[in-house]
Amino acid sequence: MSQATTPEFDFEVDFVTGQPYPWWEQARHECPVYRADASTMGFADRPLFGIARYADVEGVLRDPQRFSSAINAEHIGQYMGELILAMDGQEHRSYRGLVAHAFRASALERWDEALIGPTIGRLLDDIAPRGRADLVRDLTSQYPVQVICGLVGVPLADSAQFHEWAEQINTGPLHPEVGMAASRAMRDYLAPIVEDRRAHPRDDLISDLVHAEIDGERLSDEKIYGFLRLLLPAGAETTFRVMGNALTALVTHPDVLARVVADRALLPVVIEETLRWETSVTQVSRVAAVDTEVDGCPIPKGAAISVLTGSADRDEARYEDPEQFDIDRPVQNHLAFGTGQHQCLGMHLARLELRVGLDAILSRLPNLRLDPDEPPPVIAGLAFRGPMTLPVRFDPA
Ligand code: HEM
Repeated sequence: MSQATTPEFDFEVDFVTGQPYPWWEQARHECPVYRADASTMGFADRPLFGIARYADVEGVLRDPQRFSSAINAEHIGQYMGELILAMDGQEHRSYRGLVAHAFRASALERWDEALIGPTIGRLLDDIAPRGRADLVRDLTSQYPVQVICGLVGVPLADSAQFHEWAEQINTGPLHPEVGMAASRAMRDYLAPIVEDRRAHPRDDLISDLVHAEIDGERLSDEKIYGFLRLLLPAGAETTFRVMGNALTALVTHPDVLARVVADRALLPVVIEETLRWETSVTQVSRVAAVDTEVDGCPIPKGAAISVLTGSADRDEARYEDPEQFDIDRPVQNHLAFGTGQHQCLGMHLARLELRVGLDAILSRLPNLRLDPDEPPPVIAGLAFRGPMTLPVRFDPA
């Protein structure tokens, strides 16, 4: 059996500005299961392994008996509370069963006209007459958070506050005090709304959560707050960045942009290829539940594992020229939403928001192109990736 080794090349990558893909490529070739410095991921007391190849990543995510999600309770769970992401087995199945119906593709259809279309429409009303915009500042950073606020049932006027809390909770492991304060503030804010929906249910997700019942069982308060604290960052931070990545792909590939403007039926392909090429969440965490091995490398019980879905989706054993954004490549599943029991609950919502949002942008911002007077956009980050700015020009309405 081979041993997992610490990579001999330099693989320090800045959390916010870093570019991990070159060293993940090297890892896939030289040490697909590698030992990393556990303290960099906030795991001081246990060894940390990174898993870089598609087949291994898929295998780990589909084997919850050997690779448990419980580690998320000690990591991001400190800031989010009781968390679906950290549950295994029957507890996970029944909790997910209580909330899953609200996220089915068929249940989301009605939100298209009632919420998603009007949200992107309002944002574009502001931008369209101007002829230039930073699509991150003016659009993507506001759109998914406003949608998730509408869906959950909190006032739209507070969406900027939610965006701030969501970012602070997500980066809690790096800045614990800020993360904790945001977590408390979100609970205090949500408490009266949760109480109100118990007495006066409305057509929103908080009402669904407080009244959901399976076999007479209801969600505890802590599970409700845990779910809401996950949902706002999960719904806002991820889709916002992927939308920036898709728009970056389009404006830096004008030939593809022209094809999509002429034929919107290509949008689903653009979205799936963006998710493969530059997803916003590049890794998920697991813990070895038993002494085990991956790709022939022993992994001791209790070890933390960074399961690199971003690296998997650039695996040259599966994709030709994986670093290229190519909407004509053969269709294959990707792992941007994970796989197995914890596969993203919000993936149909994310796809719907991306399709409706990109379609509206292409219709309302004609002749969309990079702003020649500004630096080109750069997709950056280690665990969460997206462009910080996306300056564009278009013909004003
Ligand atoms: C493009 C956008 C998105 C990406 C790339 C993404 C990615 C992921 C990934 C990789 C997982 C698996 C985590 C694991 O296996 O440990 C996950 C889980 C999850 N996502 Fe998403 N997500 C996105 C959008 C959303 C949205 C819009 C929502 C909600 C409105 C959402 C809610 C969730 C929830 C609740 C889970 C936990 C599911 C479970 O533990 O059973 N996500 N997401």
